[in-house]
Amino acid sequence: MAKLTISDLDVKGKKVLVRVDFNVPIQNGVINDDNRIVAALPTIKYIIEHGGKAILLSHLGRIKSEEDKKELSLRPVAERLSELLKQDVAFVPVNEGQELEDAIAKMQAGDVLVMENTRFQDIDNDFGKRESGNDPKLGEYWASLGDMFVNDAFGTAHRSHASNVGIATAMEAEGKPVAAGFLIEKEIKFLGNAVDNPEHPFITILGGAKVSDKIGVITNLIPKSDHILIGGGMAYTFMAAMGQNIGTSLFEADKVDLAKKLLDEAGDKLVLPVDTVVTKKFDKDAPARVASGDIQDDEMGMDIGPKTIELFKNTLKGAKTVVWNGPMGVFEMPRFAKGTLEIGRSLAALPDAITIVGGGDSTSAVKQLGIAPKLSHISTGGGASLRYLEGKPLPGIECISDK
Ligand code: 3PG
Repeated sequence: MAKLTISDLDVKGKKVLVRVDFNVPIQNGVINDDNRIVAALPTIKYIIEHGGKAILLSHLGRIKSEEDKKELSLRPVAERLSELLKQDVAFVPVNEGQELEDAIAKMQAGDVLVMENTRFQDIDNDFGKRESGNDPKLGEYWASLGDMFVNDAFGTAHRSHASNVGIATAMEAEGKPVAAGFLIEKEIKFLGNAVDNPEHPFITILGGAKVSDKIGVITNLIPKSDHILIGGGMAYTFMAAMGQNIGTSLFEADKVDLAKKLLDEAGDKLVLPVDTVVTKKFDKDAPARVASGDIQDDEMGMDIGPKTIELFKNTLKGAKTVVWNGPMGVFEMPRFAKGTLEIGRSLAALPDAITIVGGGDSTSAVKQLGIAPKLSHISTGGGASLRYLEGKPLPGIECISDK
């Protein structure tokens, strides 16, 4: 990576501002998945162990009203971080002003502080969305709180907000270092290698509801992949483009022409389902059958069928690089989870491939199967990893200083 990284910095005694992505699912103050907190630990520990002071900034959810603030405080996250680090973590219930500045002034080497949700700045002020709209004054203020800035929020790297790009811009203007943390470094290593320098055969597996979400990825990866396997709701728009009846399956009418074009361009690189599990009602207990090219007008596709699972597994045999984003069916309903789970299992069984999973649903499937340790990398970025796979620049990475 030609960008400055945290290992290039001397953090001893320094106030290190760190943008992390602690946007974790929380319900009634309970964190349902702490993966993103765990993923930020290497950078935080490095700062502690090297005698720096870690001042953490993150957003959580989207703040549109005062009411949202009650649900979206970072306090539970700071508590979880304290448990994971096995040391006290100071939580400051504001992200601007005297209380914050005093708390920072009191920090000793090895201390960690979490300030309140950066998106609390998105309401109740003259600018509008100060954080999400990247108010330069807010970026300058936050930058003034530290000696250096480490961006480790890969999940937010596709955003250009005050707490990533704004701080970086202000820091650079003052000649202060702006570096990547270990998580961003790792994400770029895996995703970057897959996109720019994959070992072949390179197979991309795409699923999820919409073709429109994945057009950029398909277009970018057609020339680079040996095969792109398409499952999930998005497959039906392609099947319609091939002239098949898809009944009441998910379908984007305005993307049929594009699907035709992609099929023409990709030739046999695009692999579509040859059979699907269909039902008449979107219901977890609805009776289902396997349709092989004979979906009826009142039926909808819910999962890839057994022949498709075999086809996909065979295509995956011998793969050296695999990128997977999006489920193969409605996997939240056990009856329609088989395709997604089987694809996960076959990825885990590949003997010596680099296997990369991105996107919330495929990541949940991986967790459900307990196969995470058998995969090379599970990206912490949903939108950010897609943007990376599209080959587009990520503002949160672009803003990091070059070495
Ligand atoms: C994510 O979960 O994708 C990131 O944390 C970014 O969140 P956002 O979509 O609310 O900007």
